[in-house]
Amino acid sequence: MRTPILVANWKMHKGVREATAFAEDLKLRLQAPDGVEVVIAPPFTALGALQRALQGSGIELAGQNLYPEAEGAFTGEISPAFLRDVGCRYVILGHSERRHGFGESSEFVARKVRAACDHELRPIVCVGETLEEHEAGRTAEVIEAQIRGSLAQVPPEASETLVLAYEPVWAIGTGRTASPGDAQKVHAMIRELLRERFGAAADRIRIQYGGSVKPENGYALMAQPDIDGALVGGASLDPASFFAIIRFERASGEAST
Ligand code: PGA
Repeated sequence: MRTPILVANWKMHKGVREATAFAEDLKLRLQAPDGVEVVIAPPFTALGALQRALQGSGIELAGQNLYPEAEGAFTGEISPAFLRDVGCRYVILGHSERRHGFGESSEFVARKVRAACDHELRPIVCVGETLEEHEAGRTAEVIEAQIRGSLAQVPPEASETLVLAYEPVWAIGTGRTASPGDAQKVHAMIRELLRERFGAAADRIRIQYGGSVKPENGYALMAQPDIDGALVGGASLDPASFFAIIRFERASGEAST
């Protein structure tokens, strides 16, 4: 049984005051996140304030990125140790905006994943095909290369702490989503690749869907057998809509038990 995980990826949105107000609002709505794991990934500058605001709430924190060294002369970068220091349990790695906007290769993502594991941070590793790759029928090939490349350095004992996120690039921030059936096919394929790589642990690794997830489409996506929650961008900026997605995930979990 995998506990679904819902992650709010705020990207470059919300300063300290707005982030804290969101946390206060979400805590009131959520009470206790039983049956689902709820995680917020704010900009680095709001992590400290959120660590304080979320204390005792059961809501977890994630970094949006890291640099794969513990410390050193890397101006402008953030180490996994610092993310731990400010209360992060998770870190988003290999997001398509980093792969495509900042030229991050799967080899570089693999080093980050390794660094996260070495610091007991749980990596949320994102994979996804572009529209061009999708239309050329290359989805399976692209996802396979990203999974093999990005997970190349995961120590076996850390495999169960991994979270994968399938985010078709053409669905991110566009209002388009993969159909639940199509997304499920890719998720099942990802699980098969995880099985080859990690054996039986693959059944315990969570695979989220991401890309224009909203309260209106979240239920059907998350009801699929291999979709274990969502990585939510735009719809996570408002506590009411993020909470609505959490409620649908709980409902889909109850429906399938
Ligand atoms: P979106 O972003 O929900 O705004 O499409 C998802 C993501 O990029 O993680």
